[in-house]
Amino acid sequence: MASGTQKTMQPARDARRAPRGEPERTLAALQEARDRTLALVAGLADADLERAHSPIMSPLAWDLGHIAAYEDLWLAHRLGGLELLRAELAQRYDAFETPRPVRAEIAILGPAEAREYMRAVRARVVEALQRGGVGDGVVCEMVIRHELQHSETMRQTLAIAGLLPAGEPALAPMEEPPGWVRIAAGAFQMGASQEGFAYDNERPQHPVELAAFAIAQRPVSNESWLRFSDEGGYERREWWSPEGWAWKQREGIGHHPAIAAGDPRAPVCHVSWFEAEAFARAREARLPSEAEWEKAARASGGRDAPDGSGAGALAAAGQVWEWTRSAFRGYPGFRAHPYREYSEVFFGDSYRVLRGGSWATAPRVASVTFRNWDLPQRRQIFAGVRLARDAIS
Ligand code: AVJ
Ligand code: FE
Repeated sequence: MASGTQKTMQPARDARRAPRGEPERTLAALQEARDRTLALVAGLADADLERAHSPIMSPLAWDLGHIAAYEDLWLAHRLGGLELLRAELAQRYDAFETPRPVRAEIAILGPAEAREYMRAVRARVVEALQRGGVGDGVVCEMVIRHELQHSETMRQTLAIAGLLPAGEPALAPMEEPPGWVRIAAGAFQMGASQEGFAYDNERPQHPVELAAFAIAQRPVSNESWLRFSDEGGYERREWWSPEGWAWKQREGIGHHPAIAAGDPRAPVCHVSWFEAEAFARAREARLPSEAEWEKAARASGGRDAPDGSGAGALAAAGQVWEWTRSAFRGYPGFRAHPYREYSEVFFGDSYRVLRGGSWATAPRVASVTFRNWDLPQRRQIFAGVRLARDAIS
């Protein structure tokens, strides 16, 4: 299941997309994603699948129906040319038409019906792909990764509900002491190249010129976060942005309970962007921009974690998502593909970008160009912090 510590991020050009006309590999990957989803919910009571555990999360049964509806729309209907299996469900399971807060109030399929809907959609998709092939493979890869991404979202819900399976969260202690890596000034190519699968928001690849900077070898640990908290991290106004302070005061925020409960040397998890930014200010540092993160992740060296996990110069990457200072925007020349609601509708000042991946991210999803995003106040995601600084020349 969650492989946690054993993964290394793949460069985007390592195309894992199934080749044209070869449905077997696509179907095997779809099956793997399905096994992962079903294993996650196998031990849960129906009541836990139907309940809204948090106003910001869907009931888990909604995720199940949504996974099936998405697959039916893209693979059976659009790729395979079939009518929707259950057209009357389309709106209820459309993420955009039915946002998270209303998902608890609408009639959705119960757990058994949702599982049956998943199975029935998959059966017709198997037939459609065997008959008509996978086309250029793009929507197939999108559907595989969609289900994998939802298994992480579902784990966030399970974490809130205290229902994660035994052994999770799989966060491993890091080596000490955390040092800094200096990245020299210069240009690099940011984003995914033309080859292989990438989401629209990772393209086009384009040159970015950066000044020299330093980036932490490893993410911030639970023990350094608790030190920050003990030093008055949540009381010292001067460390916070005006928006972050207002949010913290309004919500009565202190450090997340998982931080004191976790291994002191494991990366801190469940911190919001507002908190990450305050922590960085307290350490006379800042968050990296996403360009800095990607440049460092593409650089060589630094892969010194005992488990070999990491990305380029960034050790211990892939345990927690890493907040960047950057707002989620399209790259110059961005074109929505294959639909605006995947990323374009979230562009603007509201969302911040996270990079890397977490213990709950499927290796197929995590790449050095993958861009995740969330609101700056959110802490349900498995997100931590890696600090950056301007380089002292
Ligand atoms: C990329 C994780 C922000 O959950 O909103 C799932 C992924 N898109 N279904 C999200 C996604 C459509 C997306 N994130
Ligand atoms: Fe979705």
